[in-house]
Order: sequence, then structure tokens, then C-alpha cells
Amino acid sequence: MRLSRYFLPVLKETPADAQIASHRLMLRAGMIRQQAAGIYSWLPLGYRVLRRIEQIVHEEQQRAGHIPLLMPTLQPADLWQESGRYNAYGPEMLRIRDRHDRDILYGPTNEEMITDIFRSHVSSYKDLPLTLYHIQWKFRDEVRPRFGVMRGREFLMKDGYNFDLTREDALHAYNRHLVSYLRTYERMGLQAIPMRAESGPIGGDDTHEFLVLADTGESGVFYDSEITDLRFGDRDIDYDSVEQCQGVLEEFTSRYARTDDTHDEAVFQEQVPEARRREARGIEVGQIFYFGTKYSEPMGATVATQGGERVPVHMGSHGIGVSRLVGALIEANHDENGIIWPEGVTPFHCGIVNLKQGDAAADGACEDLYKALRAKGLDPLYDDREERAGAKFATMDLIGLPWRITVGPRGLKNGVVELTCRRTGESEEMTPEAAVARVAEIYAGI
Ligand SMILES: Nc1ncnc2c1ncn2[C@@H]1O[C@H](COP(=O)(O)OP(=O)(O)OP(=O)(O)O)[C@@H](O)[C@H]1O
Ligand SMILES: [Mg+2]
Repeated sequence: MRLSRYFLPVLKETPADAQIASHRLMLRAGMIRQQAAGIYSWLPLGYRVLRRIEQIVHEEQQRAGHIPLLMPTLQPADLWQESGRYNAYGPEMLRIRDRHDRDILYGPTNEEMITDIFRSHVSSYKDLPLTLYHIQWKFRDEVRPRFGVMRGREFLMKDGYNFDLTREDALHAYNRHLVSYLRTYERMGLQAIPMRAESGPIGGDDTHEFLVLADTGESGVFYDSEITDLRFGDRDIDYDSVEQCQGVLEEFTSRYARTDDTHDEAVFQEQVPEARRREARGIEVGQIFYFGTKYSEPMGATVATQGGERVPVHMGSHGIGVSRLVGALIEANHDENGIIWPEGVTPFHCGIVNLKQGDAAADGACEDLYKALRAKGLDPLYDDREERAGAKFATMDLIGLPWRITVGPRGLKNGVVELTCRRTGESEEMTPEAAVARVAEIYAGI
């Protein structure tokens, strides 16, 4: 992409009503525009990041054997009457009446609809286990939408639902989701810690939230500091292996880590030596849940067992806050000059800054770099505007591309350009060919 032809409406002024860094930076970097309280347009740069996050979520879900589909944003009220949640849900649900006076709603989540799909098409234990998911917009009429896309009213969520014959099988599905979520967040360059959350209707240890530590997080968290040393890394996990998934769950959830909803000070003090006790804030970027037959029973989602008996299926639901993640990533990765994207989610792989637009040598070298990077399968953003060098650097720092190649007539006389790392600020001079090779190498493993 050439910046002169792109749509990047950066703001010079810091927006006054944005309280936290990620919201300010998303507005300043021209990533989003608020259309109504908690409802946003995703401008091209923001949309690119959202798409990259979605892509990682899709890849990791499918690696775990989960199957994508797409359900609508609008749902008939009848389904929710069947489960009993239509009246229970309260004012967070956006209720609409169509021209035929039928009640519909903008889905805040999809347990009912997926259960309806399941019961209409699956009737035998032979078709289990099954996990279906989608990435779709949700609407929740939050009392206090705030912090930009972090607590929106309309937001993008991955929600997945497992269907299993037994409680045991459903708990394996739960563990499999935990493993795949650890991998998903790490690929984005984020540490999200599974924490024991408010326990569900089944009781016990059947729900975990994933939290990114950040001072601006809305949840209070309490944890054993050893937990932040854990890394999932590049393990080769067999998602069908009950033992392997269980092992990862134990490794990542055996130490104390709870949100304020479930925190128990006495247990905290008993289990964690004082020097390792941490109290902090966190952003919830996902949650996994086992709820057994809560929906399958009232909605009649049953399968025939091997013996011919009909039993309700055991289910769970598992969510990732796709649009919230954009904000959470920025909260965890920024400095006073702007965003610092992790390589896994950056909107463009590399910036090219031409210090002297119109200079034949500089223009030619930039064009060559642009083509060479694209030939390696990378997406560069070339700042080819007639602007001062300072303004170009400020834009690049603000939008946070992890790598920048700076090209000027003086360096070119010595056959070099400059490669700069956004995170460390370190620069190195090298030939244009070496810069392309280096950037390609950085992204090779990502
Ligand atoms: N209003 C929102 N705006 C953006 N993302 C959201 C919002 N509500 C939930 N999410 C994201 O969707 C994920 C799954 O939804 P879930 O039903 O668990 O939300 P929740 O527990 O009600 O969230 P919260 O406690 O933050 O209101 C959450 O972990 C979060 O990342
Ligand atoms: Mg939640």
C-alpha cells in the first residue's frame, strides 16, 4: 500500500473523551470512528488488525478440530422463550419487532440458536463429538459502554459450542479449548492467563476467564507470580489426546489465579507464599464454560446412545473477544509515541519511509524495496507523501508498524538504508537487499 493513496485519517489532537491509551491511540491512528455510544466503524487500518486477529482465531480453532459456520446476528425470540432466557436476560438484550409484529432480537450470544441447529440435524451418538463455532457481531446494550472497542455495545466475538455424549467427553472439549486459547493468544504476542471465574450452574471448576494483565483492566485479579513465567510455546499437541490436554490444563491452572468474583483471601494466603502474591488488574479477552445439559434438556437436543436410549447432550460454550482484543493488544503494547504491534497482528509488516520524495535515487530505491518485500509475500506500507521526515516518522510511530526501512539520498550514496525496530528504537544500516532479507526472516516463523 502507498500511503498517498491510502485512507488513514490520523488525528493531530488527542481526543478529549478517550480515557485510556488504547482508545486514544485507536482514534488518533485512524483505526475506528464512533458512530453511536459503543458502536464503531472499523476504518481501513483498524479493519486490517481485526482481520488478522480473526484469521489467527480461525486457524487455531480449526487446528483443534472445531468447525466454522455462520449464524445470523438477528434471532427469533421463540428460541429464547424455549430456554427461558428471553425474560431472564434483561435490558442488555436489544429487542426488535418486525413488520409482522414478530419479536426478534440482536443476538448477545448463540447457545439457543446453535442448540436448535444441532437438534434439527443430529440424532445419533455416532455424530459426536462435535464443536461448531462462528465469528459474528454481537449486541449487548451495556449500561456503560466505554474504553472504545473494549466495552462496546456492538462487538465481534468468536463463540464456539461443543456437543458431547458424556460429561467426561465435554470436559475434554473444555480442556481442548483451554489449550487452543493459550496458543491463540500467544500467537498474537499476548499473555492471557486462565483464571478461575465465577462458577457456573454445575458448580465446581467449570469456567475459566482469560485475562491480560493491564492497569486499565476492569477486573481485579489475584495470582501467584509464578504463573506469568509459563509459556505454551511451540508445543505439538494432539488435541484428541485426553491426557495431553488435561496435562496442559493442570500446568496452567494449578497455581492460584482468580478474578475478584471468586477470590478467596484465606485460600490465597494459605496457598501462595507472601513474596509471590500479586494483586493487579486484568482485561477479560475470553472465557470457556462447561454447562452440561442446561440448554439441551429444555430444548430437546438429544441423541440416541449405542443402546438406543435418548439422552440430552453435554455442552459448553467458549468465547473470544475478537474486537476487544484489538484494544487489549494496544494496552499491552504501546509507548508515548504510539502503538507497537506484535508481528503476529500488525496491519502492515513493514513501513518504508522515503526521506526525500522526488529524488530520483530515493524514489527508485523505495519502489524496488516495495516490490521486493511484496515478492516475499509481505505487505509494506510505503510513505510516499511529500512530507517532512519528522512527520513521516511520527505517523509510523503512531500506527506502530514493528519494522521501518528509512531511505534517503545520503545513505544511498553509500549503498545503504536503515532498518529500525519500533519496540527498541534500535537502527542498523545495511544494503536494501539485506533489509528485505532480514524482514522476511523475521516474519518467516510467524
Ligand atoms: N461489551 C463488550 N465489548 C467487547 N467485547 C466484549 C464485550 N462483552 C464481552 N466481550 C468479549 O467477549 C468474550 C466472551 O463473552 P462473555 O459472555 O464471556 O462476556 P462477559 O463475561 O459478559 O464480559 P464482561 O464481563 O467483560 O462484560 C469476553 O471474554 C470478552 O472478551
Ligand atoms: Mg465472560
